Amino acid sequence: MKTSKTCLSNKDLLGLQDLSLSEINLILDFASKLKKEQKTGKAKPLLHGKTLGMVFQKPSTRTRVSFEAGMYQLGGTAVYLSANDIQIARGETIEDTARTLSLYLDCVMARVYDHADVQKLAQYSSIPVINGLSDAFHPCQILADLLTIKEKKGKLNGLKLAWIGDGDNVCNDLLIGCARTGISMTAACPKGYEPLEDVVALAARDGKKTAADIVITEDPIAAAKDADVVVTDTFISIGKEGERASRESTFLPKYQVNSETMKLAKKDAIFMHCLPAKRGQEVTAQVIDGKQSVVWQEAENRLHVQKAILCLLMKTA
Ligand code: CP
Ligand code: NVA
Repeated sequence: MKTSKTCLSNKDLLGLQDLSLSEINLILDFASKLKKEQKTGKAKPLLHGKTLGMVFQKPSTRTRVSFEAGMYQLGGTAVYLSANDIQIARGETIEDTARTLSLYLDCVMARVYDHADVQKLAQYSSIPVINGLSDAFHPCQILADLLTIKEKKGKLNGLKLAWIGDGDNVCNDLLIGCARTGISMTAACPKGYEPLEDVVALAARDGKKTAADIVITEDPIAAAKDADVVVTDTFISIGKEGERASRESTFLPKYQVNSETMKLAKKDAIFMHCLPAKRGQEVTAQVIDGKQSVVWQEAENRLHVQKAILCLLMKTA
């Protein structure tokens, strides 16, 4: 069990709900500072001698590489642990894996299917645990998204964000991130693909404090209207490949973000996507490769926010 203190009130980052507004701002401000330092050759080895373990049950490009590169840039190191290659694959329990990893590492990042797995890993680890995506949440993505929105719009509070598509792990944490930072969010999702009910309730409660309206609808046109930010994600998340045919017929063409969708939003609206993207499905090439798209800045910001999270959780900030 954890006894050590970190610079954040929770020892672990399993979802955006673990972070208060001031902690979100702390991470974003620190990430901006680290980004500037990295770009001007002034980066400091804040995590010298520290080791991050990265457990992956699912594939990844951005999460794996940005965490690994981030640790290297901070003077530490990262160990990639495919869940297929460690003893978990032969039935060792998550509890014993957590106890073992805590003996060698300073922090663990895990990408899992069932959110309960990363919760259990955190419960039995004495070191901080970061959720690198579960079926329910993707906190590192949302912090990168908030940093990107702030860089592009100069603020968060008072903006209007439209989510169009699957009410998935990214959508769940985005609801909480928006509500806590004062962004009004409308999520347009087909019936049966809505975000988690308790997340919507929590976001609606948080939104009352920041004057952020949280709306769940089936209508993408209503969501996109006058939005400052338009966001989507794949219709077929990792593990949902078996539902491809039914998902495609449910989501297409109504929930595709295309030029018509962007015309409904504000003139200076930005388009975001956590990636990987399927052009011609959830978004057209014209939009994701067009002028309003900020997806590469968004992907880069994964690196900077995660470096900030790592430093704050390993209490070196
Ligand atoms: N956005 C994101 O998490 O990408 P990866 O699946 O490539 O890590
Ligand atoms: N919703 C997607 C996000 C990928 C980063 C998935 O879970 O596959």
